[in-house]
Amino acid sequence: MAALALLVLFCAHSSLAQVHNLALTPEQLTAKVKVLEDIANVLGKQLIQNQLFVEERIRSDGMSGVKKVRLYREGTSPYYADTHVAQSAIAIHDHANYDRTLGIGEFIGVLNGVEFRTRHNDYKLKMPSTTSRTYHETEDILFPSVPPEVLHKTTIQEQIVEMREWFRAFKEQNTTIRDYRPYFRPLLCALEGAWTLAKDIEESFPSDRHHLDATSWEDMAEKISFTSYTGNKHNLENFAFLPSKLYSMEGGYPQFAQWNYRVICHPVSFDVPTSYFKLDDDLGHRLANDLTLKRAPFSRSARFKVNEFDRERQTTYTTLDRMMSELPGLDNYLANLTDKTYGLVANDISQAENTLNAGYYHRWYHYSEMGAMGDSVNHRGFNDENLWVAMTTQSHIMPLSTNYCVQDQCVRDTRRVTFAVPLEVIYATPILSWNPYNVAFYPADPKTDTLAQSVTANGRNGGSTPGTAYNGTNRENYYRTPVGFYASSDVEADTADTAKGSVGVLDKQGIVRQMAASGPRIITPDIQGVGTVRLRYPIFPVHSEGSTVGRELVALKEIVMKMTQYAHLLGEGQGGYLPSNPDVHFILAETYQNPPGLHSHDLVLTGAENAAVLAGNDTLVVTSLALGHTHELKVHFDKTLSAYVYVTCDGMASCWDGHARRLVLDE
Ligand SMILES: *[C@@H]1O[C@H](CO)[C@@H](O)[C@H](O)[C@H]1NC(C)=O
Ligand SMILES: *[C@@H]1O[C@H](CO)[C@@H](O)[C@H](O)[C@H]1NC(C)=O
Ligand SMILES: *[C@@H]1O[C@H](CO)[C@@H](O)[C@H](O)[C@H]1NC(C)=O
Ligand SMILES: *[C@@H]1O[C@H](CO)[C@@H](O)[C@H](O)[C@H]1NC(C)=O
Repeated sequence: MAALALLVLFCAHSSLAQVHNLALTPEQLTAKVKVLEDIANVLGKQLIQNQLFVEERIRSDGMSGVKKVRLYREGTSPYYADTHVAQSAIAIHDHANYDRTLGIGEFIGVLNGVEFRTRHNDYKLKMPSTTSRTYHETEDILFPSVPPEVLHKTTIQEQIVEMREWFRAFKEQNTTIRDYRPYFRPLLCALEGAWTLAKDIEESFPSDRHHLDATSWEDMAEKISFTSYTGNKHNLENFAFLPSKLYSMEGGYPQFAQWNYRVICHPVSFDVPTSYFKLDDDLGHRLANDLTLKRAPFSRSARFKVNEFDRERQTTYTTLDRMMSELPGLDNYLANLTDKTYGLVANDISQAENTLNAGYYHRWYHYSEMGAMGDSVNHRGFNDENLWVAMTTQSHIMPLSTNYCVQDQCVRDTRRVTFAVPLEVIYATPILSWNPYNVAFYPADPKTDTLAQSVTANGRNGGSTPGTAYNGTNRENYYRTPVGFYASSDVEADTADTAKGSVGVLDKQGIVRQMAASGPRIITPDIQGVGTVRLRYPIFPVHSEGSTVGRELVALKEIVMKMTQYAHLLGEGQGGYLPSNPDVHFILAETYQNPPGLHSHDLVLTGAENAAVLAGNDTLVVTSLALGHTHELKVHFDKTLSAYVYVTCDGMASCWDGHARRLVLDE
């Protein structure tokens, strides 16, 4: 926008010049216009450089993730103030009276060096289209069905008792009680951002309760500029800071892109055990709220990380990578794109020989090029743990081009990409579709559909008399769970929550039934014989934890919180006990083969992996990087040699660059 203003300035200036220099010849005028065009072009290109400089600066400041939520509380010490956690992690809250709405408040996020601020998010359980590539086309995520064991019960009370058993099985993750896995389905919801070419303001994801409250991008920018200057708040939380940028001076004309984001979900194809969610300790919040580690995981303020291992360790491809790899970018589920940047094909890291479908989100990829640089395992971005990228063919997304030349044969390569980070995992439960009293449901939009409006017609407000009870249910009044299912409807509540404890709903016979809200919840109310059940696990990364200071601080927290375990690492604790099953360090012997030249690699087996290898279970390990490549080794313990060896290297019998098979213990 600044460039446009400059252009206008130049034009105004040149017309003034005309008035003052009536004596200019047409040749002189043409020359002057040429000079002005050159200046505009150079300034435009400098603006592109300045934008790049800002993005590069933010990229190196931390990782893609969440920075902060709006501040509502502060105190005598800085740790009382809201961070990425307010009363809840990224201000998540419930709207359980809606069929598929999840509450998330306003927050500041960073995706690949682009910092932006969201509106109040309240998003819906929707996924990209499975049948079309149309830009932003989505589908409702199907809710799990109700187990037949529940439906086959004759009375409502028997159904309730049976349904509780399924919740108990899920809570205890015990498939012997009931095999809950087909009915408690994990949904991955991600924050997705992109530089778009949208000229008009564009609502990139629907919400029942919030929308961008502006007539154009310019109007939104002015409103944000004003409220940021004065410190005022828009009471409905419907403003967002979404930057725009000058990204190219195509033929001397400035090309602008507009940042936008959305929250998009995906039904994960496999079961994710709840034990994989390990608490990420926000110490300041715990201190300010006197929250013990024991209680923290049951609080709305809890933030988790996906860690399927029994300890902290180095990783490449994890369960989180597997989940994210199922989420497509903007070509929706039909995406089928190969990344062939600079003549190298990106391969799938989980199936080394397969080409990566770069239309799906990934952070690790694998180049397979025998010769100079050999095999290499790569991560998207320069140093950003949570940069997940997907390529797209959507013309709505900003293109960038680069020249690629092989022996004077040059091609101009163009790419369009989008970015994402995981936000949360939500378990969809059979409660979402269970309707034991068979009350009417009108699925059309209650804002426009008269049948859906009949639920609340004539002042019906969920009262307990036939005249005031809701007449059936709709998407905004989704009350179909018999209140008797819960022991009480008290949950740790938040001021942003909307559902009432229980309401009266008329069934098809006109009888008033007391019902509880059936939409998604962070934590269920107390279920008799089961207790409360956590259903939402926020797993968003935190921007500052990607900085050098952040990484050091997390290490310090870990050591201080588990001082006995790490006594041997403390300055004063040199005499402390060594861990009972320490990591085992190896060196992959030096190779002299050229290319690539003299080098070796390091590798580490965790205590558990070492035990497995010694017991005869060969284990895959990725070595350290040397001369731009790594190797994936299958490590084996050879009893006759009494030595560790590799049996495969990058899937082949020996390493392409000639490392000896025997691993050297590094003591
Ligand atoms: C799972 O439930 C069964 C049946 O109630 C019980 O016998 C078993 O001990 C439980 N398993 C675990 C690991 O708690
Ligand atoms: C993706 O495209 C390639 C050719 O470019 C084709 O061989 C492959 O079958 C396609 N995959 C899917 C899932 O459509
Ligand atoms: C409830 O709604 C249905 C469908 O619109 C209608 O037929 C019925 O008369 C309504 N019942 C009452 C008590 O208003
Ligand atoms: C070895 O692998 C088998 C099969 O995956 C597993 O059952 C066993 O527990 C493993 N042994 C060790 C020591 O990890």
